[in-house]
Amino acid sequence: MSTKNIVFSAIQPSNNLTIGNYIGAIKQWINIQDSYKCIYCIADLHAITSNNYSNLKVLSLNTLALYLACGVSPDINIICLQSEIVEHSQLHWILSCYINWNTLKYMTQFKNSYMKYNYLSNKITVGLFTYPILMASDILLYQTNYVPVGYDQKQHLEFSRKVARNFNKKYGNIFTIPQPIIAKIGKITSLLNPMRKMSKSDSNNNNYISLLDEPELVIKKINNAITDSDNPPIIKYDLKNKPGISNLLNILSVLTNTSIINLENDLNNINYTQLKKIVASEINNILFKIQKKYYSIRNKEKYLNNILISGNKKAKTIARNTLNRVYKVINIK
Ligand code: TRP
Repeated sequence: MSTKNIVFSAIQPSNNLTIGNYIGAIKQWINIQDSYKCIYCIADLHAITSNNYSNLKVLSLNTLALYLACGVSPDINIICLQSEIVEHSQLHWILSCYINWNTLKYMTQFKNSYMKYNYLSNKITVGLFTYPILMASDILLYQTNYVPVGYDQKQHLEFSRKVARNFNKKYGNIFTIPQPIIAKIGKITSLLNPMRKMSKSDSNNNNYISLLDEPELVIKKINNAITDSDNPPIIKYDLKNKPGISNLLNILSVLTNTSIINLENDLNNINYTQLKKIVASEINNILFKIQKKYYSIRNKEKYLNNILISGNKKAKTIARNTLNRVYKVINIK
């Protein structure tokens, strides 16, 4: 029996992954994959909360191939597809009967959509409302110790902890209380709207860089990224007054393993065009490697499917075990 602590994380296959996903999540997944027992999931059931896809299976396989291309190892991690492990949906239902809907009403992600569209809109599904319960189920089924997530998911993790604590208070120690590992790097933001998070489901694809973007497109998108009109130009990290430049510095800092302070010193007499050139070139260096690997495996569907079959099976064994215990204590079984 492995005594390693358990890590669980997931990304929605709502589109091809972006450099935001790479920098904010996957790079960290790779850093910790040797030290923990990691379960990295493709959250396809979460993806359908806000969109009806005609190609979700394709997007899930793209996501899997991108995980692998970035360096997530199928040999030491469990890589699985959420929809194939029915226990996620089953625990979701049970937990939903233990959670007051009032609590969910105040979750930021739901509130934001609600305010954007209003609740009469057909865009606001019940699934979007209960989304945090499914996420709590994902995490709690595996007796997860740590969840590496971006800052935007912190509230969902707090919610999962609360759900676990309340359930445990009633029934004994059924769930491990998960702890977040929040990436220390600043969040990667939208290129044209640097006060907002970079999102792969953004309707304007100039706001993000997909891991599959071609080099010329990367150069174009970074060139068009919003900066500021400081004159003379100042390369300085200042989230409040210079969100565009701060975002470029964040990206550069992670991709070159250089601290922001060192970057500010090194780049203090260049202009924004020159900065963008450097950033685009560093992005293209890393994308070149990722894409090379991606295109060498993406059409090997049997290989990809086998990784999922094996990962799903291992995941299911752990998940079933937890669910059986839950069924027992609530007297279903
Ligand atoms: N909601 C997460 C996101 O949009 C994805 C996700 C689903 C997740 N289930 C999870 C992340 C469990 C961490 C743990 O980024």
